[in-house]
Amino acid sequence: MKKVEAIVKPSKLEAIQKGLTAADIPCMTVMPVKGAGLQRGYSEIYRGTEKPMILLPKVMIICVVSDENLEKCIDVILDNASEGNIGDGKIFVYDVYDAVRIRNRERGGGAIK
Ligand SMILES: Nc1ncnc2c1ncn2[C@@H]1O[C@H](COP(=O)(O)OP(=O)(O)OP(=O)(O)O)[C@@H](O)[C@H]1O
Ligand SMILES: [Mg+2]
Repeated sequence: MKKVEAIVKPSKLEAIQKGLTAADIPCMTVMPVKGAGLQRGYSEIYRGTEKPMILLPKVMIICVVSDENLEKCIDVILDNASEGNIGDGKIFVYDVYDAVRIRNRERGGGAIK
């Protein structure tokens, strides 16, 4: 199991959500976040201007998926989040040790199906 954590522009959320659901990856956690990347938030506003860091609003989407669905999940996010611009976002991938469905105590892969 892998945890996919995507930090994207808020305007891309709806398309990513639809794409993931269509790809049979319907389970996700979404939260509003603030962040800065390499340009410390600024080049998206004033390119090249030297300023202290600012934090821009982004959305974090978390999906825990089977190893088999990992590349599909990443592809859907890339296809729906990318404009080829700075600030398009970033995806982090983590190993997941276990999952537990509280309703029936199912563990591991069964808990995320
Ligand atoms: N190394 C990092 N650690 C934690 N969060 C990060 C990291 N890099 C990016 N982020 C988060 O992702 C958001 C989007 O990052 P962003 O797309 O600006 O990355 P970047 O590396 O600056 O790439 P680009 O040059 O394409 O803008 C940031 O606002 C921040 O919330
Ligand atoms: Mg950036």
